[in-house]
Amino acid sequence: METSAIQEGEIEKVEFESSEIEYVSYGGEYHLPLIMNLVDQELSEPYSIFTYRYFVYLWPQLSFLAFHKGKCLGTVVCKMGEHRNTFRGYIAMLVVIKPYRGKGIATELVTRSIKVMMESGCEEVTLEAEVTNKGALALYGRLGFIRAKRLFHYYLNGVDAFRLKLLFPRLDLHPSLPMMAEREDSHHHEPKDNGPTQE
Ligand SMILES: CC(C)(COP(=O)(O)OP(=O)(O)OC[C@H]1O[C@@H](n2cnc3c(N)ncnc32)[C@H](O)[C@@H]1OP(=O)(O)O)[C@@H](O)C(=O)NCCC(=O)NCCS
Repeated sequence: METSAIQEGEIEKVEFESSEIEYVSYGGEYHLPLIMNLVDQELSEPYSIFTYRYFVYLWPQLSFLAFHKGKCLGTVVCKMGEHRNTFRGYIAMLVVIKPYRGKGIATELVTRSIKVMMESGCEEVTLEAEVTNKGALALYGRLGFIRAKRLFHYYLNGVDAFRLKLLFPRLDLHPSLPMMAEREDSHHHEPKDNGPTQE
């Protein structure tokens, strides 16, 4: 869904400690103008208020906002649901304003949503990004997303998109994965046939 509007230029960066950034889950209608402002500024695809409401009303737990000294500087908006026999998460919008970029804020926002998706039983997460959006492709690549498909002329501006996909490991199918090994260590090698446990 996402498409970046503006090229990076000379930006005045803000000095801050990462501990000064406050991350909050979508809290209600008063957050909506903040999200819309950020997305309208930074993404080229125009969205109506109904699109925003669709996401934040149905999946408020998957949207997060980042604040610095009361100023909203970043947001992520997502959904999840059944899709062709899989339960999957979808990242619809991700934005951090320019003075705050390159400090891990988008990574933190998106990681929070992904964590909730994982805890809610999603097997995978997808999104679309412009093939020219190096920043987003690098960010999602670092998080383990793969390029599943190229979608030709996907955006209104005519640019192609990559469909990116993150598959969550099925711990019951891959017991040798490090995550599982860690779990087993911390549970003193309890029998495996209990199935995966909730944290
Ligand atoms: C993409 C965007 C959300 C990244 O926000 P951010 O807070 O700067 O991202 P992070 O600091 O968490 O970046 C983490 C990693 O992403 C990659 N990355 C982010 N921006 C990058 C850029 N402009 N160029 C290259 N790599 C970039 C890097 O791998 C970075 O790792 P590093 O810290 O080791 O350098 C931000 O640039 C933005 O809002 N862009 C406009 C809207 C947009 O394109 N949204 C995504 C649509 S799919």
